[in-house]
Amino acid sequence: MIELEKVSKVYRMGTVPVVALDGVSVEIAAGEFVSVLGPSGSGKSTLMHLIGCLDTPSGGTYRLDGRRVEGLKRNDLAEIRNRKIGFVFQNFNLLGYATALENVELPMVYKKMRGRERKSKALELLGLVGLGDRAVHRPSELSGGQRQRVALARALANDPEIILADEPTGNLDSQSGREIVQLFRKLHQAGKTVIVVTHDKTIAAETRRVLNLFDGKLVSDSPNH
Ligand SMILES: Nc1ncnc2c1ncn2[C@@H]1O[C@H](COP(=O)(O)OP(=O)(O)OP(=O)(O)O)[C@@H](O)[C@H]1O
Ligand SMILES: [Mg+2]
Repeated sequence: MIELEKVSKVYRMGTVPVVALDGVSVEIAAGEFVSVLGPSGSGKSTLMHLIGCLDTPSGGTYRLDGRRVEGLKRNDLAEIRNRKIGFVFQNFNLLGYATALENVELPMVYKKMRGRERKSKALELLGLVGLGDRAVHRPSELSGGQRQRVALARALANDPEIILADEPTGNLDSQSGREIVQLFRKLHQAGKTVIVVTHDKTIAAETRRVLNLFDGKLVSDSPNH
């Protein structure tokens, strides 16, 4: 489903080109549970941005479900993201003034889903991540682990096939981190494709396949049982 062929990404900082990804070829099938490891600056977030259609490659080809992504316009990319992809970030990216429920409802507001349907779906998703009793709490009234679970519920709002998480446990204590990883595992078992960037080898050990990046290159790709 995800096919990268010699993909590169070069950022231009004034006149200085920064090669963030350098000829990465990888295929990820539907339903895989993959982690991405590598030192700071090795290109992990860049890879997630490309896979998630937040950005397009400078070279090589990226096919998502057989469709080439490089030539697509902003609107097409946004449409693919909304339909197929759920993002989870290290810093949660929740709206501070909105309740947990409203945060989870947001992607469905953009999709113009009706109020009542939206609310019941959001409540169902909060229940799924174990926060059914925190619906009217604001982010400041939740723990870090709970905030990340709200973010995960929000990522699931449009039933994405692919969940992309960039260091989702980076700001969490190890217990909350483990809980988040267990939720990812559950999503994988339910058939979602889950890709997680992490610095944490114990988290990587939970996934079925580990990709290692170094200096923008894919230096290893190993199965995990
Ligand atoms: N928008 C940008 N403009 C210019 N350079 C960028 C941009 N984003 C990333 N880079 C550069 O590309 C390289 C890869 O960055 P990337 O964010 O993908 O690394 P990373 O592996 O996610 O690192 P970390 O573990 O610190 O998050 C770095 O050298 C970085 O400075
Ligand atoms: Mg990063």
